[in-house]
Amino acid sequence: MWLSEVMLQQTTVAAVKPYFAKFIARWPNVAALAAAPEDEVMAAWAGLGYYSRARNLVACAREVAALGRFPHTERDLRALPGLGAYTAAAVAAIAFGERAVVIDANVERVVARLYAVTDPLPAARKALYKLTDQITPASRSGDFAQAMMDIGSGICTSRDPQCQICPLADLCAARKQGDPARFPVKPAKKATPTRQGTAFWIERGNKVWLVTRAGKGMLGGMRALPDDGWRASGDGTCKAPIKGTWQPVGLVRHSFTHFALELTVSRYASETVPQLQNGEWWPLDRLEAAGLPTLFAKAARLARAQD
Ligand code: ADE
Repeated sequence: MWLSEVMLQQTTVAAVKPYFAKFIARWPNVAALAAAPEDEVMAAWAGLGYYSRARNLVACAREVAALGRFPHTERDLRALPGLGAYTAAAVAAIAFGERAVVIDANVERVVARLYAVTDPLPAARKALYKLTDQITPASRSGDFAQAMMDIGSGICTSRDPQCQICPLADLCAARKQGDPARFPVKPAKKATPTRQGTAFWIERGNKVWLVTRAGKGMLGGMRALPDDGWRASGDGTCKAPIKGTWQPVGLVRHSFTHFALELTVSRYASETVPQLQNGEWWPLDRLEAAGLPTLFAKAARLARAQD
C-alpha cells in the first residue's frame, strides 16, 4: 500500500501499474527492499520520474526494517523518508484504519467545488483542509478518502466534470452556481523557462559511455549520458567531454516540473576515444538494464538511430 502510494505521487495509475507489478515481484516485502542495493532500485524506477522517490523508498524500507514494522500513526509515518502529508495520512487511514484527513489534488478539487471555495490555491489549502476534516468520517476514513480520490479522478475531473453521474451533485455548491470547472481557483500561471542543453553519446565497440548523476536533486543517482551542465537555473555550456568530431543527431524536448529542456544530442563519431573518467562503458545490447531516465532513453534512441 505504501509502495503504491509513493509510486502514485504525481503519477497516473496507468503509468504506475507495470512498475508496481515489477517491484512487488522483485522485492516482495519491506525486508527485501531494505536489503536491495540502492542503485538497483534506482535503475528499476527508471522511466517513472521524480527519482528522489526511489532513493527515499530504499531509505524508508531500511528504517521500517530496523523498526520491525511500519508505525501506525500519521505523525510517526510522516517522519519516514518520502512520506509527505498526503502519503502519511493515506497510509495511516487506508492501511491501518486510523482516522486521517487525506488530501491530494483530486480531493482538493472535489472539496473546492463542493463548497465553491473562491480563494485561489495555494492560499486556500488551509480552508480546504478544514472542510475536508469536517466531512471525513470517524470510521473508514481510508475508504472515504479513496472514494473522494476516485470521484476526483473519474468524475469531477479538472476540465470536464461529469456532474450528471456525480453522487455528490445535489450537495455541490459549484454545480449550483453553474460553472464547476472554475474551481479550484488557480493563481496566475508563472511561465516556465526553456533551457538548452547537450547530451553526449560516446560509442566505442559495442559500448556507450554512461555516467551516474551526482547529488540528491533532479535525476540525482540515476545513470545518464554525460552532458554540458544544463540545469533548472541555466543553459548548458555546449562543451563536450572530449575533443574530436561530434555529430548532432537530434533534439529531445522534455518537461520537468519547473522548466522545459531542449536537449541537443551529439554523437562522438571516431574510431578512437580518449581516456574518460568517472563513468562506465555500458554494453549496448544491455542498455535497457542501465535504467536511463526517460530523457536520456529518448536521447539514446536518437543516437542509435544513426547506426
Ligand atoms: N491515487 C493515489 N492513491 C489512491 C488511492 N488509494 N485510491 C484512489 N486513487 C489514488
